[in-house]
Amino acid sequence: MTKKIDIQRLTQAMKRVGAAAVLGMTTLAAHAAAPQSRNDTTLIAHGEYLARAGDCIACHSAPSGKPFAGGLKFDTPIGAIYSTNITPDRSTGIGSWTFAQFDRAVRAGVKPNGDTLYPAMPFPSYARLSQDDMHALYAYFTHGVAPVNQKNKPVDIVWPLSMRWPLGIWRHLFAPEPVSFDAKRYADPVIARGAYLVQGLGHCGACHTPRAATMQERALSEFDGPAFLAGGAAIDGWIPSSLRGNPRTGIGAWSEADLVQFLKTGRTQHSAAFGGMTDVVQHSMQHMNDADLTAIARYLKTLPSTDPQETPYAYDDTAARALRMGDASAPGAAVYRDNCTACHRSDGRGYNRVFPALGGNPVVQGKDATSLIHVLLTGSTLEGTKTAPSSFTMPAFGWRLNDQEVADVTNFVRTSWGNSGSTVSATDVAKVRKTVTVHAPDMPPGAALSH
Ligand code: HEC
Ligand code: HEC
Ligand code: HEC
Repeated sequence: MTKKIDIQRLTQAMKRVGAAAVLGMTTLAAHAAAPQSRNDTTLIAHGEYLARAGDCIACHSAPSGKPFAGGLKFDTPIGAIYSTNITPDRSTGIGSWTFAQFDRAVRAGVKPNGDTLYPAMPFPSYARLSQDDMHALYAYFTHGVAPVNQKNKPVDIVWPLSMRWPLGIWRHLFAPEPVSFDAKRYADPVIARGAYLVQGLGHCGACHTPRAATMQERALSEFDGPAFLAGGAAIDGWIPSSLRGNPRTGIGAWSEADLVQFLKTGRTQHSAAFGGMTDVVQHSMQHMNDADLTAIARYLKTLPSTDPQETPYAYDDTAARALRMGDASAPGAAVYRDNCTACHRSDGRGYNRVFPALGGNPVVQGKDATSLIHVLLTGSTLEGTKTAPSSFTMPAFGWRLNDQEVADVTNFVRTSWGNSGSTVSATDVAKVRKTVTVHAPDMPPGAALSH
């Protein structure tokens, strides 16, 4: 895998796709199907369910804005872009779009005027959607969503970088043809359903699959190679972990039931959802029915480990015994004893579905410790869901632990209780600290925090 973009090859490729670009724009129009019965409530309800599976609301609503009215900011290396209004308002939303126009935007990433969308809109994943599901989504977005009159924000990118034609070239080089998912590649219909949801609407790979230097996901399904869902780069300072069968750094030790529980409630005996995954659980996965969650879990469990050398996790009680005997001489042990044992316990086992276990936790042993440092500096809240309404908060420590202490305690949890994560330095912590906002808790004057 070469890291640098070969400019010459890219220019050649750009020339080659010049003609294809024009052709490509017309291929989808042929799919435009017969109009549906206009107020088919079952179809609209099904579309709503699918919109949840696709998590459209998370990206198409601004904080405290109206649902689906757009305006959420996405930072790109060249400037900011904003999600768009996809409510059925006729002047500012998609109310006047035909099915063919909607289908082409969602699956091929092309707007009615021919412009290509930024791939922040996960059209490379949605390319797999079936025509039936697209019709249900169209019914929901045109008849099930309240219209909101709100103009789209223009991109904050200076000309000439703001021109959209290079996106068209990117699309032709890297985005898949919008061809519906082929269930025949899977022998088991449940696994096929899971694959359809994970690769398509769920767009799990948009976060969990590593990207190439040219920003496309390195694999859109397991047929493209072992990079698929092998763990992505940080998004807002959180690392989407590996969803492969790796026994320590992936979900190899999780059962199908664990996965269902995690997606439904954000919590299991192994781990708790945080960062970008909180939104996925809140807006999307908790609303899926059990059959679909089981399908997703069963499919994920078919993805083999990417590292045959990785040994299974086995609990080791050395650290727990030392802490119980009052021996906190290991680096980071004292910081852990004073700040963490109340919730995560000296044995690192936490409290099932309340405070996550740290021993055996894939996130704690992952290759990249950025999320861990981040969660220690800023804290995080495990949000309640419909079936697990209680919410639990991990306090922020960034305001009272220095970089060395954070590094020590990070290393302590990454190497205790049988964990085998690599270690970090105070410099690594300082780097993460620069990218996050650390708040001290509000306390009444004179109050001291008990350790
Ligand atoms: C990860 C974020 C994300 C998700 C999830 C997402 N979108 Fe988008 N979408 C965007 C962004 C950002 C844009 C604007 C891109 C641009 O301006 O080039 C966009 C653009 C669009 C457009 C084009 C609108 C226009 O006026 O040009 C449509 C239609 C659309 N999205 C529909 C959907 C639907 C339907 C879903 C759910 C199935 C969805 N999106 C999920 C981020 C997202
Ligand atoms: C008041 C209870 C509490 C204390 C004290 C606490 N934590 Fe946590 N911790 C939590 C909760 C709750 C979560 C889940 C947060 C979420 O899901 O957003 C969590 C999450 C974590 C995670 C991420 C694991 C995962 O799967 O979500 C790590 C790592 C962690 N804590 C380490 C520590 C360390 C190290 C300390 C001490 C410096 C500490 N915690 C102190 C409650 C606590
Ligand atoms: C917006 C980015 C994003 C998307 C989209 C996303 N995830 Fe995640 N996911 C994360 C992050 C970040 C983590 C690490 C934090 C955590 O464990 O919650 C994570 C963690 C997980 C975990 C826990 C793994 C572990 O070892 O603790 C599972 C399981 C998971 N995701 C499944 C999925 C599935 C299935 C989908 C698609 C339906 C999906 N994710 C889509 C960002 C994302």
